[in-house]
Amino acid sequence: MTGFSLEWLQLREPCDVRARSQELVIGLRSLLPLRPLQVVDLGAGTGANVRYMAPLLGGEQRWITVDNDPKLIERQPSSIESASFQCSVTSRCLDLVADLSSLPLSGCQLVTASALLDLVSASWFALLASRCAALGATVLFSLSYDGRVQCLPRDPDDEWLIGLVNLHQRGDKGFGPALGPDATEHARQVFAALNYEWRVVPSDWEIDSAERAMQRELMAGWMGAAREVAPAECQRIDRWGRRREAHLDAGELLISVGHQDFMAWPKSSAG
Ligand SMILES: C[S@@+](CC[C@H](N)C(=O)[O-])C[C@H]1O[C@@H](n2cnc3c(N)ncnc32)[C@H](O)[C@@H]1O
Repeated sequence: MTGFSLEWLQLREPCDVRARSQELVIGLRSLLPLRPLQVVDLGAGTGANVRYMAPLLGGEQRWITVDNDPKLIERQPSSIESASFQCSVTSRCLDLVADLSSLPLSGCQLVTASALLDLVSASWFALLASRCAALGATVLFSLSYDGRVQCLPRDPDDEWLIGLVNLHQRGDKGFGPALGPDATEHARQVFAALNYEWRVVPSDWEIDSAERAMQRELMAGWMGAAREVAPAECQRIDRWGRRREAHLDAGELLISVGHQDFMAWPKSSAG
């Protein structure tokens, strides 16, 4: 399973839904009262962000979802609706790096992304932010990893292993050196300099032993990342994995992973 595979996105979606700040999305209703609301979702995957946000935003919405993986795009809905909202979804297969200048942002009031910000580089983000500011668009970037992990029961090598993971998080994920755990603070500084107001709300994953498959994949991902960063330490990493596997099999593992939701809007906007 890779960080963008269909299986991983399906596994993490319930954790994401529990973790995300409803309050920030509901706050968008008063900041962006006009309908239809035009939204662009970057790195949309299978459409988790639209599934989460559209019911909370309410009313008529027109989303453009952008991703470069056709297999994920074919899982996106073309529309979703209930009594309180109607949302059309237009999927676009675009590379956010190569095609950033041709992103279909014209007329867009809200630029959003979930689980993307920690993958991008400072230089890529600067270009995106300046385009958002030129439009006067509001932004909501949710579920950015912030480097905090706690596993219970504790293991003496947790901190060491997560240190390696966090180094890996700063590697190139296709956008240049990734912002990784600094993503939200970086975004806050960039948008504050662009004369935006902002809010940051924690959106930590809390994963208990009932979500064993999620725990297992998360730990496998950490171990893979740690091995890439410190190939000479494979044996110590494997020993950590065997101890953690025993906790997992015994159903006694609790994992908390720090994330943050970030919203920013031009100072002149209401709210
Ligand atoms: C961690 S996933 C998040 C997916 C979705 N937003 C969610 O919350 O489930 C990151 C997404 O960014 C997409 N992505 C990564 N690099 C990209 C690029 N250069 N251009 C377009 N999409 C990209 C991946 O295909 C993947 O769907």
